[in-house]
Amino acid sequence: MFETLKPAPQDKIIALIAEYAADERDSKIDLGVGVYKDATGNTPIMTAVAKAEDRRVKEQTTKTYVGMAGNVGFNNAMIDLVLGDSISRDRVRGAQAPGGTGALRLIADLLDVAKPGATVYLSDPTWPNHVPLMQAAGLKTATYPYFDAETGKVKFDELCAALEKMTADDIVLLHGCCHNPTGANLTNEQWDKVTEIVAKTGTFVLVDIAYLGFGDGLEADAYGVRKLASTLPEMAVAASCSKNFGLYRERVGCAMIIGANEEVANITFSQLLSAARANYSMPPDHGAEIVRIILNDDTLRKEWEEELSQVRNHMVTIREKLAEAMRQRSNSADFDFLAEHRGMFSLLGISQDKVEQLKKDFGVYMVGNSRMNIAGLGVDKIDQFADALVKVTRE
Ligand code: LMR
Repeated sequence: MFETLKPAPQDKIIALIAEYAADERDSKIDLGVGVYKDATGNTPIMTAVAKAEDRRVKEQTTKTYVGMAGNVGFNNAMIDLVLGDSISRDRVRGAQAPGGTGALRLIADLLDVAKPGATVYLSDPTWPNHVPLMQAAGLKTATYPYFDAETGKVKFDELCAALEKMTADDIVLLHGCCHNPTGANLTNEQWDKVTEIVAKTGTFVLVDIAYLGFGDGLEADAYGVRKLASTLPEMAVAASCSKNFGLYRERVGCAMIIGANEEVANITFSQLLSAARANYSMPPDHGAEIVRIILNDDTLRKEWEEELSQVRNHMVTIREKLAEAMRQRSNSADFDFLAEHRGMFSLLGISQDKVEQLKKDFGVYMVGNSRMNIAGLGVDKIDQFADALVKVTRE
């Protein structure tokens, strides 16, 4: 049977991890996959995570099954963290999932049961895995305008015009904050407008929020998702703890669904859990229990929030210093958008050839669409990177 297979196309982000590792140049710079690196280039285990992990090892008394929704305490804590008091708890349900990707897949499976073969509109551009993930669940994909590479800003009027044309049979996926890959985000007033439009058209909204706390803070970053949740009769949210808890390999995410009333929420949740059962039965507990411990312990939570602020401030510092370094070298404001963007990524808007040249000539690795991981650039490498970027953009 296997002889009929052709090699699968490589995931562009994951392929960079191996390519970077194989590069023997000491001066190489990794701006590829979205992991946070501190000033020394290390991806640290957060101190609150290490303490919660220690506690879990000492206190856990059984490894028996947890159930298809996973860790219930984790789910409740995540609903509180993401949705705050925007929605009454009888209308929302949460299921722990293996990472934000697992949460997205559960929701995609659910949506394909609710409306088989419906179209999911994705931002142009979006996280590349959104496309195969939605299609694997049976859904169709299309795009809506989002990013203006000339200005580095959101094409808000075009976005609104596209939203106006969507119908109640469609699904739109919105990035809750820290847009991946562009770094360009909606203002609160723009979220209000988007909410007004989708409330009118009845288009189903799925919010992917993988970087909560990486933009302007935990509360500020939740503005959009909470506005939608407080307004719409139904929606879904896929949240990730990979980045904000630094739990990448532990695969910790949460799929949340909101129903028009308690009965609809319960029925919808039963379908979400069926999707979990068919995919992997039950999610792994370890990472979710760490998050549950942190979010329910005042001291650990404070420690985590402080560390998260340091991570966020580090990224803002890199953004400001890089924008300044580019201003000096290019004698222009062409890269000022770097300081305005928020989150882990910015899309530089340079051609794929120039991205290749950065890799070949300067050992700088970033995704082919010119997405750079801001958190991958140490302060000590800013000048080196700015020199390389100016050289390739001038040619
Ligand atoms: C990224 O966009 O780099 C991360 O979300 C990692 C991934 O799974 O692609």
